[in-house]
Amino acid sequence: MAKDRPVIPVAEPLLDGRELEYVTDCVQSGWISSLGKYVRDFEENFAAYCGVQFGVATFNGTVALHLLMASLNLGPGDEVIMPSLTYVATANAVQYTGATPIFVDSERETWNIDPTAVVEAINPRTKAIIAVHLYGHPADMDPLQAVANEYQVVLIEDAAEAHGARYKGRRVGGLSDAAIFSFYGNKIITTGEGGVIVTNNRAWAERAFFLENQGRYADNPYWHSEVAYNYRMTNIQAAIGLAQLERIEEMITIRRRNAAHYSRRLADLPGLSLPPNMAWAENVYWMYSVLVEDEFGLERDEVRTRLWAAGIETRPFFYPVHALPMYNTGQSLPVAEELGRRGINLPSGATLTPEQIDLVCDTLASLTA
Ligand SMILES: Cc1ncc(COP(=O)(O)O)c(C=O)c1O
Repeated sequence: MAKDRPVIPVAEPLLDGRELEYVTDCVQSGWISSLGKYVRDFEENFAAYCGVQFGVATFNGTVALHLLMASLNLGPGDEVIMPSLTYVATANAVQYTGATPIFVDSERETWNIDPTAVVEAINPRTKAIIAVHLYGHPADMDPLQAVANEYQVVLIEDAAEAHGARYKGRRVGGLSDAAIFSFYGNKIITTGEGGVIVTNNRAWAERAFFLENQGRYADNPYWHSEVAYNYRMTNIQAAIGLAQLERIEEMITIRRRNAAHYSRRLADLPGLSLPPNMAWAENVYWMYSVLVEDEFGLERDEVRTRLWAAGIETRPFFYPVHALPMYNTGQSLPVAEELGRRGINLPSGATLTPEQIDLVCDTLASLTA
C-alpha cells in the first residue's frame, strides 16, 4: 500500500541540545536579525572547527557559493571546473556571476571529481576548480591541489554535504583556498537554512562580508559603490547552529555508527555496491548511499518504489548537471551518468534507530529473493 508519509524518512534534524535555549535568548533579547552575538560566535567556532581563520555566515549554502564566486571576482569569460555529479547549486552559483561552469567526470571508486579529467579540461580561461565532497566522502584533494598549483588556479571545496569529514587526517573545509558548507535541515548540523564560507584568505573573507552586507562601508553605511547583496545569516539561525556545533562529533558518530550497521547487513547482498570509504578518508556518511547494479535484478527506480511501498523514503542520486536542460552540454560523462542512474540515498538521519536500519535492510534483501 502506497503511503503519504514515510515511516522512515531520509533525514530529520536532531534538535534536542541547547537550540531552544539559545533561540529563546534571541527572542527575549530582541536580537533576531543578523546583528547579535550568535552569528559572530558561530562563524568563529565553525571556522576553528575546520582549522581555518575566517568564517562568513550566509542564509543558505547556495548564496555562500555565489558570494565566494563573487568575492573571487569571477565574471564572463572565466571558467570554473567542477564535477557534473553534484547538486545543481554548485553550477548555478558560478552561472550567476556570468562565468561558465565546466563539467567533468567522476571516479567510480570515490564518486567524486576525477583529477585526470580536471587536467584535460584546464585552460587559460580556468580560474577555479571546485571539489565537491559528495554525500560525505572527501574528494582526493592532493592531485587536485597539484593541478591547481601547476596552473595557478584557485581550489575550492563545496563541503555542503561533508561537515567533519577528513582527508588524510585533516578536516574538509581546511584543505583548499576556501570552502563552503550548507546547514539545510537535513545536513549533519543544521541552522534550518544556512551556509558559511571558510577561508584563511583575509582579503576574500573581508570582501565576502562587504558584499553580503549590500556593499556597506562601516563609516558611511548608505554610500554604496557597487551592486551587492543581502545574504546574511540571522542570529536565530546562528543560535541553532551554535547549539548544533556543540554536538557535531556526536552527530558524526551517529552517522558513522549507522553506516557501519548498514554495511554489515548489506555487504553480502548481491548487486548492491556500498558507499566509498577510501583508506585516506573518513566518510561522515551524510547520506548512506548504494548503487543498484545489474545483478540486483531490479532497476534503481523500481527498488525505490518498492521501498516507498514499505514506508521507506529514499532519494535518487543527482542527475549529472551537464544533462539538465539549462546546461545541456551534449557531453558524455559515463561515470557520472552511471552513478546518477544507479544511486540511492537510503534513510541516513541522526534520528534513525537500529530497528529502522534492519527494516530497510530486510526489505532490500526481500527484493532480491
Ligand atoms: C553539494 C551541494 N552544494 C551546495 C548546496 C547548496 O546548499 P543550500 O541548499 O543550503 O542552498 C547543497 C545543498 O544541499 C549541496 O548538496
